[in-house]
Amino acid sequence: MIPAVVVAIDGPSASGKSTVARRVAERLPDFVYVDSGALYRLVTVAAMQAGVAPEDGPVVRRFLDALPLEYIVRDRVVVYRVGGREAGPELRTQAVNENVSLFAALAPVRERVVGWLRGLTRFGSLVMEGRDIGEVVFPGAACKFYLNASPEERARRRHRELEGRVAPDDGGLRQVDESLRRRDRIDSGRAVAPLRIPAGSAVIDSTGLTIDQVVEVVLLQVRQVPGLVSNG
Ligand code: DC
Repeated sequence: MIPAVVVAIDGPSASGKSTVARRVAERLPDFVYVDSGALYRLVTVAAMQAGVAPEDGPVVRRFLDALPLEYIVRDRVVVYRVGGREAGPELRTQAVNENVSLFAALAPVRERVVGWLRGLTRFGSLVMEGRDIGEVVFPGAACKFYLNASPEERARRRHRELEGRVAPDDGGLRQVDESLRRRDRIDSGRAVAPLRIPAGSAVIDSTGLTIDQVVEVVLLQVRQVPGLVSNG
């Protein structure tokens, strides 16, 4: 069996890493795309539904032990299910945005999610995006990228994404900006696996670049990996 190749794409919220990672996976035959943030979001939704508070360590552990999590691959994307139900739009509500950093900062949550993510190589080669993929989950990844963009550009991107859901005025943009900065502060300041540039990663500032340009930069480097066959 050919060993799984991992492409790790890390970076802060709204740095463009989700879209880039998804497109990179589409362009690489046989690679599967993994959104690791969705797993932290899923734990958060399930915990909130179960009335589990992030402060309550032993309850959090018991809750994680009992979480009926499954994965499937559909169209080369890893899809998560809890209790047979597929995770969907409920992962991206404002309440989850506000709470996910708190759950993602907990050691038992991170231990469990890291284990689940490592297990996904059973599906083959992966393009995985997140905050600690190149540093903690797959430090030996074949290719590591750290995507960034200026805080203003990230707020503008996230605001555009939310248009229709948040009033498209200055107040909306300011709110998005504050919410992103708060999340970045928690993600970068936490004791366990804080967001940082992984050793050996290529740093790409996407502020003045289109998604397609970033995808090409990533693919150029991925295609240097020995033994990787790609016709995309
Ligand atoms: O990428 P995202 O916004 O969906 O991530 C949701 C949260 O999960 C975010 O607060 C950071 C956290 N996260 C993490 O700590 N480690 C990862 N590998 C991925 C996400």
